[in-house]
Amino acid sequence: MNNDLLNHILAQAPEEEPARQNYFTGECRRVVSGISGEKGRHLTCSVNTFGCQMNVKDSEKLLYILKEIGYQETGNEDADLVLFNTCTVRENANQRFYGRLGTLKSAKKRNPDMIIALCGCMMQEPQVVQTIRERYSHVNLIFGTHNIYKLAELLFLYLASHVNQTEILDGTDKIVENLPSERKFSFKSGVNIMYGCNNFCSYCIVPYVRGRERSRAPEDILKEVRDLSRDGVREVMLLGQNVNSYKADITFPELLRQVSEVPGIRRVRFMTSHPKDLSEELIRVIRDHPKICRHIHLPLQSGSSRILKAMNRHYNKQDYLSLAEKIRNEIPGVSITTDIIVGFPGETEEDFQETLDVVEKVRFDSAFTFIYSKRSGTKAAVMEDQVSREVVDDRFRRLLDLVTRISREQTKQYEGLVMEVLAEEVNSKDPSLLSGRLSNNSVVHFKADPELIGQIVNVKLDTAKGFYYYGTLADDVSLS
Ligand code: 5AD
Ligand code: SF4
Repeated sequence: MNNDLLNHILAQAPEEEPARQNYFTGECRRVVSGISGEKGRHLTCSVNTFGCQMNVKDSEKLLYILKEIGYQETGNEDADLVLFNTCTVRENANQRFYGRLGTLKSAKKRNPDMIIALCGCMMQEPQVVQTIRERYSHVNLIFGTHNIYKLAELLFLYLASHVNQTEILDGTDKIVENLPSERKFSFKSGVNIMYGCNNFCSYCIVPYVRGRERSRAPEDILKEVRDLSRDGVREVMLLGQNVNSYKADITFPELLRQVSEVPGIRRVRFMTSHPKDLSEELIRVIRDHPKICRHIHLPLQSGSSRILKAMNRHYNKQDYLSLAEKIRNEIPGVSITTDIIVGFPGETEEDFQETLDVVEKVRFDSAFTFIYSKRSGTKAAVMEDQVSREVVDDRFRRLLDLVTRISREQTKQYEGLVMEVLAEEVNSKDPSLLSGRLSNNSVVHFKADPELIGQIVNVKLDTAKGFYYYGTLADDVSLS
């Protein structure tokens, strides 16, 4: 595209969002349709997501933009546009990621017009962007967590100029509303209620790459949920790094209640809660509203009060135990799941025993266990007494054995019961089965017609298999 035309197009662009991006989406569509005409085929895209539910949701928004531009989604990485939405919570993911970038270089040799785009948390780290710019010149677009809504504009600039584009914002106080997303499931959807995190747990990079907390207005959230419900969504998951610090003119529990009362919505979940500010009001609201799922993800991180203090978590072992007990007493059938880190700097065998003790006492229904990973820029990265690899590996194995045994026992307690399952998808290993979830988030596989996908059905939980069940549709069993 010549410079005059490019400047003319840029000069005409509206300032306001999302109008500006709609404009660039239209401009991209024109270019992409031209290329597609020359090639005699549709252009394809592949969106690869790493990390948490926030990234999953961001990727749905990005895929929507790409489809509007005219790209067709494909599963393989030989696509015309390959996008990686990255995670940087733990170091080993970064190493694997550079490996994938290397592989893409040869894919780009086969298809020199391929566009490679990177976004997400890793891109908020200046040294990562510098490495990519120096060593991976086949990458065409780089943007961060604060400007995903600008994909169309950045892509247009690249398509028009063939100059690689990088735009990373340090932070933002802006929330761009009305960004549609391409949902993976027609019947369930994540809904952002807040962005960022202010907690600065000493091991965690999230506050640096996702910025300060910003909460969406309740009326925007409720409008989105009503629109989703009209579109056939039955389950929503309210998303935030720490939903309990949602700040608006209503509290988080009140928001949760109002969302659960939107007509057509059958289930509401939320993720993630910080134990330091999970309120009694929240426990009561969950207890009194059956549409709110019987599941609380409550990251423990460590059972040692000393380590929790060094982690800057603002609760101690006893606080956590009391909270878990209150939740279990007030909400029958609730599952409590958690995240645990082993090998935080200075963790001794005694500290680790405290963690095992909490696992025994709370009896987590399932737990994600992580080996501590040093993230530069965080407080913990410069702490002394980093724990040796052998010791960490040994503790990790012992912890995993314990959480696995307990979650098996927890799952076993519902064996034989008939419970409601939201049928979600055809089982990837055995296509005669559907897979779905209980309100408490356990997975159930059962024989049924794919037509039932998206519906809540009664299933008898025949056998508990560790983290999941095999069941039978209750229509086929006698409900005695
Ligand atoms: N090392 C290991 N695990 C981490 N997490 C966050 N930061 C780190 C780190 N530096 C884990 C925490 C958090 C989960 C999403 O990832 O347990 O709850
Ligand atoms: Fe990280 Fe702590 Fe914020 Fe969670 S609450 S994202 S662990 S800083």
